Amino acid sequence: MVREPTPADKFSFGLWTVGWTGTDPFGGPTRPALDPWEYSDRLAELGAWGITFHDNDVFPFEADDATRDRIAGRLKDATDRAGLVIEMVTTNTFSHPIFKDGGLTSNDRGVRRYGLRKILRAVDLAVQVGATTFVMWGGREGAEYDGSKDLVAAFDRYREGLDTVAGYIKSQGYDLRIALEPKPNEPRGDIFLPTVGHALALIAELEHGDIVGLNPETGHEQMANLNYTHALAQALWSGKLFHIDLNGQRGLKYDQDLVFGHGDLLSAFFTVDLLENGFPASPEGPRYTGPRHFDYKPSRTEHLDGVWESAKASMSTYLMLAERARAFRADPRVQDAMAYAGVFELAEPTLAAGETAAELLAHDDGFDVTKAAERDYGFVRLQQLAVEHLVG
Ligand code: GCO
Ligand code: MN
Ligand code: MN
Repeated sequence: MVREPTPADKFSFGLWTVGWTGTDPFGGPTRPALDPWEYSDRLAELGAWGITFHDNDVFPFEADDATRDRIAGRLKDATDRAGLVIEMVTTNTFSHPIFKDGGLTSNDRGVRRYGLRKILRAVDLAVQVGATTFVMWGGREGAEYDGSKDLVAAFDRYREGLDTVAGYIKSQGYDLRIALEPKPNEPRGDIFLPTVGHALALIAELEHGDIVGLNPETGHEQMANLNYTHALAQALWSGKLFHIDLNGQRGLKYDQDLVFGHGDLLSAFFTVDLLENGFPASPEGPRYTGPRHFDYKPSRTEHLDGVWESAKASMSTYLMLAERARAFRADPRVQDAMAYAGVFELAEPTLAAGETAAELLAHDDGFDVTKAAERDYGFVRLQQLAVEHLVG
């Protein structure tokens, strides 16, 4: 049995996750929609630490200012009373038909100006409710047809939009950072910023890139056939892992948004191992200390009981994996296997202190190529120890 989650575990949930009513392209809702505070109250009871939301998870797209303020205020009061943090806010620039060709990169300039205004207003809202991260998932920024976009102009507009938002955050003195969320496709045929690597490359081109980082989602990297743990690692290494979306995905298909661990469990184990224990050979290396945020969809087959079961499952799976990952690292057999595998050796710089390329060229250090070719790394044994800890 695994222990109950507590706020110290820093688990958070999007209101749109437990709030998803089961609508998909083939059928209508299978569950009723509750009020936002009903979801947050219940999540607090289950041991969550925080919630997150899109502007339009809370108030309708067409809400006037008074309605916006009233509903957002009521949610903030409810979360304060429940002891929950609103840690992240984001904007919905994908549901309304005006965004069918994107928000920041729509071919229609009027839509881009409207979208940017909507995002800036959500930035103000984020700060009002105390959030410190502003996620930007450009789900509609993309195309189905290569001839439909001037791609250089699209990247120019994406950069312009992000710099406008980041510049606004700075000009207001807000304590808020932007986290871009990559995804390769769905709802667009091809989404711009399909992977963590693409997003990092765009951030490097920004004027205000210092406050722009990443919100990688498990299933989104896996939809691109990539390794989520590696994506987290590179974002961390770049100082850009601002937020995470944990969930599950099984293979190359539509975005499943399963419960964390209900996809590739072994990969989830190493994700948690990295988040909880850091890099094995780099104790001083970068660590992620932000929210353990879940972005999943309770399956359409579940009614409200199943919604709460899936929220509990997300936290419980994480806690079980954390416990096993700690035991894995503490196991002397694992430490020996890591040493045998050379895991710690990789942290040693390849050149000696002060050594130049010319000096390296000038003398070989008697390196035995034949012997090195015969080296056994023992990676399989190390991996089997992980499996033993995971299922043992
Ligand atoms: C998805 C996305 C979305 C975004 C969210 C934040 O599953 O395609 O994860 O859920 O994370 O909308 O804007
Ligand atoms: Mn997803
Ligand atoms: Mn997400």
